[in-house]
Amino acid sequence: MITVKGLDFTYQKSNKQAIKEIDFDIKQGEIFGFLGPSGAGKTTTQRLIIGLLRGYEGKVEVLGKERRLWGKEIYENIGVAFDFPNLYIKLTGEENLKLIRSYYKNKADNIHQLLDKVGLLSDKDKKVEGYSKGMKMRLNFIRAIMHEPELMFFDEPTSGLDPVNAKIIKDMIVNLKASGKTIFLTTHNMTVAEQLCDRVAFIVDGKISVIDEPKSLMLKHGKRDLKLEYLEEGKLVESHFDLQNIGQNNNFFEILKHKQIKTIHSQEATLEDVFIKLTGRELL
Ligand SMILES: Nc1ncnc2c1ncn2[C@@H]1O[C@H](COP(=O)(O)OP(=O)(O)OP(=O)(O)O)[C@@H](O)[C@H]1O
Ligand SMILES: [Mg+2]
Repeated sequence: MITVKGLDFTYQKSNKQAIKEIDFDIKQGEIFGFLGPSGAGKTTTQRLIIGLLRGYEGKVEVLGKERRLWGKEIYENIGVAFDFPNLYIKLTGEENLKLIRSYYKNKADNIHQLLDKVGLLSDKDKKVEGYSKGMKMRLNFIRAIMHEPELMFFDEPTSGLDPVNAKIIKDMIVNLKASGKTIFLTTHNMTVAEQLCDRVAFIVDGKISVIDEPKSLMLKHGKRDLKLEYLEEGKLVESHFDLQNIGQNNNFFEILKHKQIKTIHSQEATLEDVFIKLTGRELL
């Protein structure tokens, strides 16, 4: 769906290259995440692919065609929700969606259902200027997907949302994937990346340092260690066992058989640990 090769980009009036020799590809039906700290180049990369920024070097192929060769028709096939919602604040939620619907060939006939899905049905007649940031984010999200595009770009889709609303959006993203859509999202939220992404790219200072599945990164960089806590003479005791050949470890089985076990945990790394280890940077 997307192939990027040797992508370089510098903002006008800036002497610093924002994107440096980036390579990645995104397959159909995949949720691909760009994970990196503030200023890493996540939004810039998305804006280049979407066509909101011009003047790049390298190859950016979207839906089988070089980005430069696409005209406006690409917007029928892609959906974009950025972290600064661009909505008509003097119109109501429903009026916004109706107006935006008129721009597309594929016209949504389920506006109320979509509003209901993100908990905005009862606010549909309220002007958007009276919406909270979270409400705007949710409306902006439906705005991006209502013409049912094949490929979607979400920039920090859960930023500013409380846990309940963040979950609504995350579940919708998972459902979009289940219906065959391809999703490219950016985040600096490790949990979002872990929960949603099939693959993540770590990006720092305009460069990608690794692309892999979250689970495989966490396993590769974690300790092959199992932590056991159990009671011995009324006291909590902690023991560690190598996961290698744990099935043959008699000490381990003796404890399991004879002690009161309180906790058992394998010690795979969190995505955050892996990020810090590989990039030397925190994800703030
Ligand atoms: N309009 C602009 N003009 C000049 N430089 C810019 C512009 N927008 C971004 N930059 C610079 O480009 C680099 C990448 O910024 P970008 O917005 O892509 O980062 P990001 O990873 O999306 O960060 P955040 O997590 O804060 O959204 C940064 O060094 C930033 O200062
Ligand atoms: Mg950004």
